[in-house]
Amino acid sequence: MILMRCQKFCLDSRIVSHNSILTLVTAYVLDTQPFNTDYESKHLVMSLISLQIRKVSGELTVPGDKSISHRALIIGSVAVGETRIYGLLEGEDVLNTMGAVRALGAKVIKNEDGSLSVFGRGIGGLVKPETDLDMGNSGTAARLLAGLLATHPFKTVIRGDQSLSGRPMGRIIEPLEKMGATFNASKGGCLPLTIMGADRPLPIEYRLPVPSAQVKSAILLGGLNAPGKTTVMEPRPTRDHSERMLAYFGAELEVADIPGGGRSITLTGQPELKGREIVVPSDISSAAFPLVAALLVEGSEVIIRGVGINPERTGLLDTLIEMGAEIKIEGFSEATGEPVADLRVSHGPLRGVEVPAQRAPSMIDEYPILAIAAACAEGTTVMRGLAELRLKESDRLGAISKGLAECGVELEEGEDWIAIHGTGSAPKGGAGVAVKMDHRIAMSFLVLGMVTAEPVYIDDASSIDTSFPGFVEMMNGIGAAIGEKE
Ligand code: S3P
Repeated sequence: MILMRCQKFCLDSRIVSHNSILTLVTAYVLDTQPFNTDYESKHLVMSLISLQIRKVSGELTVPGDKSISHRALIIGSVAVGETRIYGLLEGEDVLNTMGAVRALGAKVIKNEDGSLSVFGRGIGGLVKPETDLDMGNSGTAARLLAGLLATHPFKTVIRGDQSLSGRPMGRIIEPLEKMGATFNASKGGCLPLTIMGADRPLPIEYRLPVPSAQVKSAILLGGLNAPGKTTVMEPRPTRDHSERMLAYFGAELEVADIPGGGRSITLTGQPELKGREIVVPSDISSAAFPLVAALLVEGSEVIIRGVGINPERTGLLDTLIEMGAEIKIEGFSEATGEPVADLRVSHGPLRGVEVPAQRAPSMIDEYPILAIAAACAEGTTVMRGLAELRLKESDRLGAISKGLAECGVELEEGEDWIAIHGTGSAPKGGAGVAVKMDHRIAMSFLVLGMVTAEPVYIDDASSIDTSFPGFVEMMNGIGAAIGEKE
């Protein structure tokens, strides 16, 4: 069980700079079962409030990359021998994946140095789990594991929380059926999903209708246990962590550009993957919160260490730099085939820009926090090509519009676009935002509260743990004033 302890304060305490009384607002205490995947009991619904502050400063290292952490566990589970993982994100989404690979027969242990070892079962070697696999809030875990299990000849049921149970699975079912698997989905093609893995898996060639790294990865993971070559064509490049990691474990992959700006990835099936050592970089999607906070709060400077800067993930940096942000990318290195760097960020004025639709895959999870930056920028920021945002942990486009409008921001919203009219200074704030089990909406609006004259609060902080355990403590460590709302 995780306990959250927060300084309590109420809306009357609207004074700037509460840092001295908020040194440790949240403490997360893991129980002695470090990878217990029964999260029902610890989802304490807690309303948090974020107050205006004077500046943020300091250095921080945010938790490990969520996408890479899922993949390290999943690919490690079908490699031969030990995969040792350093810097794994121990957030709920990834812990659910860990629980699942254990249920499928891989051994996972925590080492004394904090790293984690996965002892894999080899390609095709997973075993039927005794219970349903509960993936909680994680679309990545559900879709990637469905891909892997589509070519294992046994029946599995994947379920999830209320948010995940409303997200579309048809996008993976369609290609995975072509590999020979059969599915029984709930109404609307959603979870719970029963998978009967193919007895004789077939390699496929598949053109993705929408750019999605999850769907691409599901097919490649399915292709691992199919004889011959599995090819996925994506209309626009999406994060390529699966490709990089599969190659690092010894799989044979060919990647080629295709006309129109997309890519094709061909995997040769039934490789022998060898257990490897993985160092997970910090998650750029989590770094985005202190980064935008430093840009918005006057007099701030923050250094965020060891952030993964895979080119298919850096659309937010490109956009903020176009908006006039001072972001220095320093100290380049590499971790397990992924580029890594430190980000040095200082406060400065931002101006509105047009964010092109083609950039969406490289910043798909960062639109909520970009919207917060846009609300404080001078002029209009237009973001296009956002249809996928409606299908995330919540309808993110709707949540951004509603929350910002309630905080006094002028905006227009279309089916797949939003135009945010910033005035060059912070909006008034003062709203309570309904988070709808969406961690990124929760954290984005807490960042907004750091600059608004009236505090911003969120109705439920429990989802933050899915991707960024220790968020409140870390943000308060650099100067934020986030605490429990009475
Ligand atoms: C992810 C891919 C993206 C992203 C998600 C993580 C991944 O989803 O939004 O948070 O790890 O592959 P889509 O593939 O649906 O775009």
